[in-house]
Amino acid sequence: MSIDHTKTPFYTKLEAYAKSDIIKHDVPGHKLGQINNEISHYAGLEMFKLDANAPRGLDNLNQPRGVIMESSVLMADAFGAQKAYFLTGGTTMGILSMIMSTCRAKEEIILPRNVHKSAINALILSGAVPVFVKPYIDKKLGIANHMALSEVKKTIDEHPDAKALFIINPTYYGVTSDLQEMTDYAHQHDMKVLVDEAHGSHFPFSSLLPIGSMQAGADLASCSLHKTVGSLTQSSILITQGTRIDQIRLRSTINMLQSTSPSSLLLASLDVARKYIYFHGQEKIDHVIAMADEARQKIDKITGLKTMSKAYFTKQGAFDYDETKILIKVSDLGISGFQVYQELVDIYHIQLELSETHVVLAVLSLATTQEDLDALVFALQKISDTYVLQQLNAIKPKVVYRYPDYYVRPREAYHAPKKYMLLEDAVDEIAAESIMIYPPGIPIVIPGEIISQDIIDDLEFYKNHNSTILSDADNGYIKVIDKEEWMKWSGYDDE
Ligand SMILES: Cc1ncc(COP(=O)(O)O)c(C=O)c1O
Repeated sequence: MSIDHTKTPFYTKLEAYAKSDIIKHDVPGHKLGQINNEISHYAGLEMFKLDANAPRGLDNLNQPRGVIMESSVLMADAFGAQKAYFLTGGTTMGILSMIMSTCRAKEEIILPRNVHKSAINALILSGAVPVFVKPYIDKKLGIANHMALSEVKKTIDEHPDAKALFIINPTYYGVTSDLQEMTDYAHQHDMKVLVDEAHGSHFPFSSLLPIGSMQAGADLASCSLHKTVGSLTQSSILITQGTRIDQIRLRSTINMLQSTSPSSLLLASLDVARKYIYFHGQEKIDHVIAMADEARQKIDKITGLKTMSKAYFTKQGAFDYDETKILIKVSDLGISGFQVYQELVDIYHIQLELSETHVVLAVLSLATTQEDLDALVFALQKISDTYVLQQLNAIKPKVVYRYPDYYVRPREAYHAPKKYMLLEDAVDEIAAESIMIYPPGIPIVIPGEIISQDIIDDLEFYKNHNSTILSDADNGYIKVIDKEEWMKWSGYDDE
């Protein structure tokens, strides 16, 4: 097949089908818009017309041979990969697929502790043993970021049998580790390199951005095109290259996790987003970075606010920084990031990506406008004026940032007998679930870790700041291993 990026094979076929006015005795039940509901009133019937299921000619995502295959060849080429798989379950599904297809039960995988919850869930599903690398913790900002190269090399040396190294490129805040060196070192030790590129799908399309996974030589990566490239929410891709990945096992793992009725809207949105970024990525992203630079300079002139720069992060040992993110320290005003986030919504009608105790994060993309950035700068100036006048004391950074001790494999904790306890009574118990703030969705505690007073204090703190806490019980209770029952139990056979 010739590589012609002006083509959108899947979308083109879907549009032709939508226009064909065929008589429909198949699913979906809305019969391509022969329906009357709130969404059809608001969004129009055309959207339903693009929501076809599996008519002839539209190919099959489980085993693409036609237009999905043609579109995925173009996708792979755009990302510098050998192969691309379309996903309709987000990078959550990509991460599950990457880990489940490369690590078997009781095999080790090296990964930073600040991974997204999907990586922890992949440990439960695969049964793999995590070897956690402690990420760099920025105590001033209260966030976890890159992994130090020396730490990763040391961990690889200490765990020569690990099957894979898992790297985040970049973290939610835009910070990257030395992906290329880490990849080379892992390959020298016969380990596969898996990359969570949920927030880095735009990297291959501008020379001003950090290196992309495929360019760094990684074996497998999952990219949320919906986050920064403009496809519809939940549409992601898995990209791969080289000979280390068993493609048949990967395909069958993806198919295990993928719906047999994948959304054609999502697939089409991947196709057209690829075409757009291929032709306009460099120009648009460079423009966004220029706008972001200017906004950062303006915000830095506002009393009590400070934006973080590439120089700031690299001084801490990070490898690079995605300058389409604007991370702002607000706690010197005497108010938390949570409060600024809420005021921006309530008073100024501005939605940011996330807040933490000390910072708020704006995620820009090739669709960000100058007016939107001006509105943010204006609102931040107003917020600063309000609180500077009140002369509040700056919020002090938390002194300890400690990850809990690991006691048992996440899969064993998941399968062990359990009980629910009030969070405040759970000190020294072994967690049987992940608990996290969303966003960013990085678990504070994972199944198999020992719950400490620090963790309980952290969770109470987040609760008091109206953060969304995700846990199974969701009512002040936490699921822990019932140790007494566990002792009597013959155990879960994992082999
Ligand atoms: C670092 C990281 N990895 C993976 C994911 C999952 O991506 P998706 O939302 O596409 O499932 C997220 C989502 O926020 C994330 O922040």
